[in-house]
Amino acid sequence: MPPMNATELRDKFIAFFITKDHKQIAGKSLLPENDPSVLFTTAGMHPLVPYLLGEPHPAGARLCNYQKCIRTGDIDEVGDASHLTCFEMLGNWSLGDYFKKESIAWSWEFLTDKKWLGLDPRRISVTVFAGDADVPRDEESAGIWKSLGLPEGRIAYLGEEDNWWKVGPTGPCGPDTEIFYWIGPGIPADASNKRNDPDNWLEIWNNVFMEFNRVDEKTLVKLPKQNVDTGMGLERTATALQGKDSAFQTEVFAPIIAAIEAVSGCRYGTDAEKDRSVRIVADHLRSAVFILGDERGVTPSNVGAGYVLRRLIRRAVRHGRKLGIDKAFLEPLARAVVDTFKGPYPELGTNEAKVYAEFNKEETKFLETLQKGEHEFEKLAPNLLKNPKKVIPGRIAFRLYDTYGFPLELTEELAAERGLAVNKEEFEEAFKKHQELSRAGSEAVFKGGLADQSEMTVRYHTATHLLQAALKRVLGDHVAQKGSNITAERMRFDFTHPAAMTPEEVKNVEDIVNEQIKRDLPVTMEMMKLDEAKAKGATALFGEKYEETVKVYSVGDFSKEVCGGPHVEHTGALGRFKITKEQSSSAGVRRIRAVLE
Ligand code: ALA
Repeated sequence: MPPMNATELRDKFIAFFITKDHKQIAGKSLLPENDPSVLFTTAGMHPLVPYLLGEPHPAGARLCNYQKCIRTGDIDEVGDASHLTCFEMLGNWSLGDYFKKESIAWSWEFLTDKKWLGLDPRRISVTVFAGDADVPRDEESAGIWKSLGLPEGRIAYLGEEDNWWKVGPTGPCGPDTEIFYWIGPGIPADASNKRNDPDNWLEIWNNVFMEFNRVDEKTLVKLPKQNVDTGMGLERTATALQGKDSAFQTEVFAPIIAAIEAVSGCRYGTDAEKDRSVRIVADHLRSAVFILGDERGVTPSNVGAGYVLRRLIRRAVRHGRKLGIDKAFLEPLARAVVDTFKGPYPELGTNEAKVYAEFNKEETKFLETLQKGEHEFEKLAPNLLKNPKKVIPGRIAFRLYDTYGFPLELTEELAAERGLAVNKEEFEEAFKKHQELSRAGSEAVFKGGLADQSEMTVRYHTATHLLQAALKRVLGDHVAQKGSNITAERMRFDFTHPAAMTPEEVKNVEDIVNEQIKRDLPVTMEMMKLDEAKAKGATALFGEKYEETVKVYSVGDFSKEVCGGPHVEHTGALGRFKITKEQSSSAGVRRIRAVLE
């Protein structure tokens, strides 16, 4: 029998948890709605935060799915055999239903039973939480592992850094137990584990026992329910199943690597330096296709998720050039990615024309930038090399950026090739002075973590429902939500409308929303089938993947929307609604900024 591929693994995971009475839920967009604290969905649990905090989920208390994720925190390490910016996470959840015992036993069964993955139990080890001042050592999980036959020595007790999972500085969190698979030679000793041989143990699955909520630095409280949140890395587990050392050797990456070989004439696996570039191009292209082809896709820009996308595409182009490719080459690579993944992610197929058009546009633009910037750098190089400290002043890096659009990381790469460093602090200072949103800024957002579930954001969330319904009344039924972004200070709402709103229209919308606030309407939630919700006139986001059963939030008789919540109970809690700006967002899309006073 040939080893299991990623497609079979994905299917088996879902099938297994269905036999354990789980409901499969749809994976969500990579661009989190209503969450200003992260740029991308970074784990399967991310869209489930409200439910982990206690909101009922329409599909019940046992859920499973596969979720596309983007993590760019380690982007500079991509190029080695293991780092990826885009990966798929297989997950199962208990929302206050089963806990440690079932979760661990089912992981073991799925991994080792011949009917499922049939991995060699002698090649498995785990870690569990060693305990800290707040929460004791997790003897319960260790005991469950031992009862399944895992030798004592295969269990490593590690601290917060390794075995405490959280999505951000605040929010749901808890101790976890991580499962590792041996990729070294032979069968490891019974006493071998992640602590004493970290290189040969590949992490494949993480079971988090999410029973706490971190309210602030000092306060950790118990959640109303004991939840389980697990995440299995699809690419890593496929690597383990196929006896490979790296995901780049599996069929997940084979078509895109073949496309890179075809356009560059290089052969993967023959030259260490070039192999690194091949992996960077393959990884970044795959991420960029998933971001551009997302149901809520963004396009390259200089801020937020659009900036990350631009950076991924541009870095791929740079490494393509290192492979000797001197013409536009992204489209055939993007096609290979779309073809490989449009089965499990149909949005990639739906959006494919847009994906290729955006790649071509960005690539052409960047090739021009590169030529100009590199030319300028070459002119400066002889002088720069005379600097005794071997450091390029930040103002020069900034000038390359500001005048030629040449990104800092590329200046750094060119500099490194000549044994020079760049003074980044100086660059950042110059950058901030010019009031641009800095790269450091968007990364801080990315690292920031969890959705801010503060009271204020809940109020703003309810206000978006009122705003959308008011816009439909004033402008017409063509108004459809294109995006929303909420912080504790303000809301932003994008919607389709062909023209700028007149001052009267803005005033009218504002008045209608305030009238509903004055009426102190009750906000109620009902669960129903998606078709029924639509038949009842509930607004739903076009292109969004919904479960079969959905939650519908009604604000009195005024608004009805398919939505995960949470919301305030009465509109009276909102305060005064004020539109601070109405502007264009992109072709045919308007953007409203508003505050609650
Ligand atoms: N949320 C957990 C993780 O991402 C499962 O590792």
